[in-house]
Amino acid sequence: MARIHNLRNGIDREMLNEIKEKFEEGLFPQWILTDPDIYALEVDRIFGYTWQYLGHESELKEPGDYVTRWLLDDPVLLIKNKQGEINAFLNSCTHRGTHLCTADSGNKKAFTCPFHGWTFNTEGELIGVVAGDKVYGQKLNKKEWSLRKIPRVETYKGMIFGNMDKNAMSLDEYLGELKWYLDIILGRSDGGMEVKGGPQRWVVNTNWKLTAENFGGDPYHVATTHRSTVELGISPKDPLYSSYGHQVKLNHGHCVNVSTVVPGLNMPPYQGLPKEMWPMFERNLSKEQLEVYKKTTVIVGSCFPNLSFHCPVHGSEGHLHNYLTLRIWRPMGPDKIEIWSWFLIDKAAPEAYKMDSYKGYVASFGPSGTLEADDTEIWTRVVQASKGRMARDKDLSYNNLLNYMMGMDEVLPDESWPGPGVAYPTCYVDAALRGMHDYWLELMTSDLKDDSKWND
Ligand SMILES: [Fe+2]
Repeated sequence: MARIHNLRNGIDREMLNEIKEKFEEGLFPQWILTDPDIYALEVDRIFGYTWQYLGHESELKEPGDYVTRWLLDDPVLLIKNKQGEINAFLNSCTHRGTHLCTADSGNKKAFTCPFHGWTFNTEGELIGVVAGDKVYGQKLNKKEWSLRKIPRVETYKGMIFGNMDKNAMSLDEYLGELKWYLDIILGRSDGGMEVKGGPQRWVVNTNWKLTAENFGGDPYHVATTHRSTVELGISPKDPLYSSYGHQVKLNHGHCVNVSTVVPGLNMPPYQGLPKEMWPMFERNLSKEQLEVYKKTTVIVGSCFPNLSFHCPVHGSEGHLHNYLTLRIWRPMGPDKIEIWSWFLIDKAAPEAYKMDSYKGYVASFGPSGTLEADDTEIWTRVVQASKGRMARDKDLSYNNLLNYMMGMDEVLPDESWPGPGVAYPTCYVDAALRGMHDYWLELMTSDLKDDSKWND
């Protein structure tokens, strides 16, 4: 039965066609999760061509403010220049390639390389060379040695994204149907959202697809993975409690789940946000968005490939708090990711409420948060159990296929849903994840027609 390919042979067309067939049946070959050759292909075809989150405009307030980030394996330096524009450079000295700035954030007029002392300003221009005239004579034209720009950088409602593909579709087009849902959480209040504190980050031994899936289309896990919240009386006993609401499959592999209150439970409108903020929501959201948002408890989803967002309600009546966390699942290999987690809250929220929300975020979804710890444990177990000989068997006639079939034939789209995308009248359905996998496959096979790239 075993057909363990020599991994150095790479991925061939036959394998990708087999994966496509299985995806159509709602089946997911387990070997894809941890295979180094699949990962190498993802690095090239997915992370080389999609928009990935870099940070939020509120992290860069004054000219000279900078943060250091990553686009997969490329270090990025984001700086606000004197004109108030945000520049994004490869954070690597143009002299000998040194990682130029290793601080997380700060404010600077110039960046000096620790290796030979070349210095660059906030426009990325080379402005200082140690003993320049003496060692290079007239041969060094500083203008030719500026920091390299990230090929594409665009923003949406304060979110800054980068793309390595200079010919990529615009960010606006890429976000597509997801914008309607992002607008609710990013645009509900006057002044939008702001980041508080720096991003927290930690490394987890798992695969980036699992974490994107978890936020993108898996409210089904909540009743079991987070069982302790039920036992403590924080969550309802109803095993369907995370199913109420809609799961929406969006274009370009994006996913969102809009949860509504469990039948029979009382919950104030607008995620329990302070009453004084409600007129802003009514002013800033469309009639359709307001209709959806009024009944919403949680908005959670993923922006393909590796950004997730979670806007929940925690606490008990009288002490409810809401926040937004943005998540990057930065791949560091097929079985390792670095998680970057930002806390955001409405600029216009009362100050005391912001502090309550921050504490709630840290206790639930910070690196040591109770809910985060539950998820992390499970994500690592999936990868641990997917690295062995049997799970990595590429013979798909053998039953090492995972089940993404929930609701496949039984749950029909809700035609009355007022937002974009294909909406299902429950969150216990695998429709959005199947959509995510379809887009993954579309990118992975984007040049399948070019025979020269494949050695069958
Ligand atoms: Fe979870």
